[in-house]
Amino acid sequence: MSPQTSLYAQRRARLASSLGVGGIAIIPTAPERPRNRDTDFLYRHDSYFYYLTGFTEPGACLVISHDGRSTLFCQPKDLEREIWDGYRLGPVAAPAALGVDAAHSITDLDAKLPRLLENRSCVWYPFAIHSGLAARVEGWLNTVRARVRYGAMCPAEQNDLCTPLDEMRLVKDAHEQDTMRRASAISAQAHIRAMQRSARMLRAGEDVREYHLDAELLHAFREAGSQYPAYGSIVAAGANACVLHYQAAAAPVRNGELVLIDAGCELDGYASDITRTFPANGTFTGPQRALYDLVLASQDAAVAATKAGARFNDPHDATVAVLAQGMLDLGLLDKNKVGTAQDVIDKRAYFQFYMHRTGHWLGMDVHDCGSYVEPGEVGQVSERKDPLSGETITNRPSRVLRPGMVLTIEPGIYVRPAEGVPEQFHNIGIRIEDDAIVTETGCELITRGVPVKADEIEALMRA
Ligand code: GLY
Ligand code: MN
Ligand code: MN
Repeated sequence: MSPQTSLYAQRRARLASSLGVGGIAIIPTAPERPRNRDTDFLYRHDSYFYYLTGFTEPGACLVISHDGRSTLFCQPKDLEREIWDGYRLGPVAAPAALGVDAAHSITDLDAKLPRLLENRSCVWYPFAIHSGLAARVEGWLNTVRARVRYGAMCPAEQNDLCTPLDEMRLVKDAHEQDTMRRASAISAQAHIRAMQRSARMLRAGEDVREYHLDAELLHAFREAGSQYPAYGSIVAAGANACVLHYQAAAAPVRNGELVLIDAGCELDGYASDITRTFPANGTFTGPQRALYDLVLASQDAAVAATKAGARFNDPHDATVAVLAQGMLDLGLLDKNKVGTAQDVIDKRAYFQFYMHRTGHWLGMDVHDCGSYVEPGEVGQVSERKDPLSGETITNRPSRVLRPGMVLTIEPGIYVRPAEGVPEQFHNIGIRIEDDAIVTETGCELITRGVPVKADEIEALMRA
């Protein structure tokens, strides 16, 4: 078995050991999805399936039983389909190539799966991920039930396979961390390209559009071997940066405005997720710089709070403390009306300008799986009244960070014009986002191949 193949075999063995005696797991890959008429979206495998196989073909399903035996159903060899659509591994070659114990054609799934489920006590599959899967499991179980008179036993329990798999995926192993470092390095270079293109075109007096910068990102991703962007790139010029889920469009990139780019590539199944905000022409104005430095200071505080043993919420709380004070100091919030920084936090007054969380898990999926609540403490419920909505919020202790967890750290400030908000800050949107691997003593920022300090961004854009 190659080192790569044995990595997936080890993951399957770990999962098998968590299924309990008599457990069996079914993990399909993602379906192909039509885009229009007879054309599909670019295919992307299912992350859980890939985590256990490293196999990227569509039309596949993995079955793992508690004793560690794995069976793969995959597309059969078919010369005509391979001429049109490309190479298929096929069930004969699959055991040697992927280290599974047995393989069959996916066309035999309905015929063979009930036999695999017979005499098991519990079926595990990912709940609410694959539309139609629950109904198919029901059908397979009905086929088993039809045989109980002949002595077959039908599984009486069904469990969500996401629960053990999410826990496994939450802590990234050395191979995953290495892939994520490489994805981040590619994305960092892409951001540098986009920044420099913006300044270069504006200096030359050209008409710069958001799509010019998006094109730089895509070029850099593919040039370095990334398969595709990990999510729809946000390239937001000027006031568009205040739209949190804006996508790269055709708006002009103007002298004197900021550009917010939130973009990262996917490499070999793993996402990166970087945001940089920079002056379109390479030089921050005074008000832009004041807000930028505040967001960066809040990110520094969050980075310092990210370490093994800390809670997932700690970086967010550290960010908010810095932003709250800064919003008062810069006059975004009126001290006479809101009070102290603690009042800003208690009343959630910062929410007018900072309305998202400071991070999320990152891995194969950009918003990766994994519970944000510490599993051993789910029973420790506390309630509080939200100061803005008046709703009762139920809190549970947030996740304790462990080495190998990967999360983003992405504070921001988004200033929509409003009464009492100094005009010099109107329509400025800033976010700074880096990806962090938690270590024993702190965290490793894997996205700093692109500068983040205002002076360094200006120097880079002059180059
Ligand atoms: N790019 C998506 C996010 O930052 O969450
Ligand atoms: Mn993010
Ligand atoms: Mn992002």
